Amino acid sequence: MEKVKTDKKGAFIAFEGIDGSGKSTQAKLLADRLKDNGISIYETREPTDAPIGSLTRQILTGRIKTDNKVIAALFLADRLDHLLNDLDGICAKIDSGITVISDRYYFSSYAYHSVDVNMDWVISANSICADLLRPTCTVFIDVTPDESLDRIAKGRYRSELFETRERLTIVRKKYMEAFEKLKDKENIVIIDGNQPPEKIAEDIWSKVRCYFE
Ligand code: ADP
Ligand code: TYD
Repeated sequence: MEKVKTDKKGAFIAFEGIDGSGKSTQAKLLADRLKDNGISIYETREPTDAPIGSLTRQILTGRIKTDNKVIAALFLADRLDHLLNDLDGICAKIDSGITVISDRYYFSSYAYHSVDVNMDWVISANSICADLLRPTCTVFIDVTPDESLDRIAKGRYRSELFETRERLTIVRKKYMEAFEKLKDKENIVIIDGNQPPEKIAEDIWSKVRCYFE
């Protein structure tokens, strides 16, 4: 039977990495493992599937074009909706004892938007989200841009706005810069993603299991 925690908040695990790094694969493997352990899990992602998230996806495909600061602000608006909306906001879920696993959270904004916009601005704009919900742990799956582009090429046909070698190389560097900047405030684990999925899942489990014991 499912163990529903009533007296304790759920954990919040955020997966991060460049496009095609294997985040969705690993988020699912961790969710399945935790469910098998009787923990109530809600799986989610950013950009969300809600209206503001759909708008940001149209920017990613190039269908809508706008200034980079506007893009950063739209991702922030989507994140706030993800946290707070009445239908399925994740803050309420965590308060009720459900563990939430998200494919991307605010470190994606720090890394992807700071290529064009000042990183401190992006961090400070997102501080409202950090105040509402800081991840129990951020899991960064580290792969080389070449490996991620190979995986993307095998998996789908269209290319999104940020999926070029040059861009992903910079984004990876920006992630590292953001982790260094926030290492005293955030709980970050970096996992070698250039390995078979099952090995990566074991590495992740060895780092996060302490939150579920
Ligand atoms: P992301 O969510 O980071 O974009 P996905 O989990 O969707 O990444 O993985 C991108 C592609 O790479 C998918 O086709 C997936 O099956 C494949 N993949 C995921 N993890 C690995 C791995 N460790 N080794 C090789 N291919 C992988
Ligand atoms: P998507 O195809 O949904 O996911 P993935 O490539 O990780 O499988 O693309 C999400 C894209 O959105 C990805 O290129 C990163 C970008 N992004 C931002 O630029 N800012 C953000 O705040 C978030 C959450 C994502």
